[in-house]
Amino acid sequence: MKRTLRLGVNIDHVATIRNARDGRHPDPVRAAKLAVGAGADGITAHLREDRRHISDHDITRLSEEIDVPLNLEMAATQEMLDIALRHRPHAACIVPEKRQERTTEGGLDVVAGRAHLAPFVDALSAAGIRVSFFVEPDLVQLDAAVELGAPVVELHTGAYCEADGGARERELARIVEAAAHAETVGLECHAGHGLSYESVVPIAAIPTIVELNIGHFLIGEAIFGGLESSIKRMRALMDRTRAEAVGAHSP
Ligand code: PXP
Repeated sequence: MKRTLRLGVNIDHVATIRNARDGRHPDPVRAAKLAVGAGADGITAHLREDRRHISDHDITRLSEEIDVPLNLEMAATQEMLDIALRHRPHAACIVPEKRQERTTEGGLDVVAGRAHLAPFVDALSAAGIRVSFFVEPDLVQLDAAVELGAPVVELHTGAYCEADGGARERELARIVEAAAHAETVGLECHAGHGLSYESVVPIAAIPTIVELNIGHFLIGEAIFGGLESSIKRMRALMDRTRAEAVGAHSP
């Protein structure tokens, strides 16, 4: 039974605030370093086609200045592939991207996009970059990821986080099932999007999920109590929940 659950802190929205004034403050690289000090196992950043938050220069600096794994979220475009191959981050998470969306809405359709996605997996993997697909908790998407040779999937938790009552229970059940399926088919399973102190608990209790990527909520909470405090609290919640869940399943 796996015990550890890694926390990847997504620093995109530090850059969102910086870009509101087109200046240098607050610096996402400073936030990344602080996040590592507060217990983050890795840093996640999404270089969007429109550069609305993270910039190319941020990716250069993150690659050079942080000493934990960098997870680059990217669309499957030639431009992003070239950037990834130049910087060789630890991991690349391939996400769907639409210019008009506020955030990543929905998972990548790996089934429909097989032919387009295959060369991205091959090129990134050949460069030693661990590829993940950001997908809905849908078993056919996981099977398609296996077919393409991606070692990791990240399950989109957005629908679960936004739902209430019975709908939320159903979304959670889909995530539980997908996370179990991931282990069966040999995929490493991550999850993220929209997670908060409250919604993270049932997700952290799923033992086959080994990494959570969390951003917006932590940066928002930092307004009230500081970034170090929000990350430490999330880290402690995740660790406690995972320890209890694993303990409860031990003989
Ligand atoms: N994982 C992926 C693939 C994402 O695209 C995002 C948002 O950029 C996150 C995790 C983090 O989501 P949030 O900022 O809502 O915590």
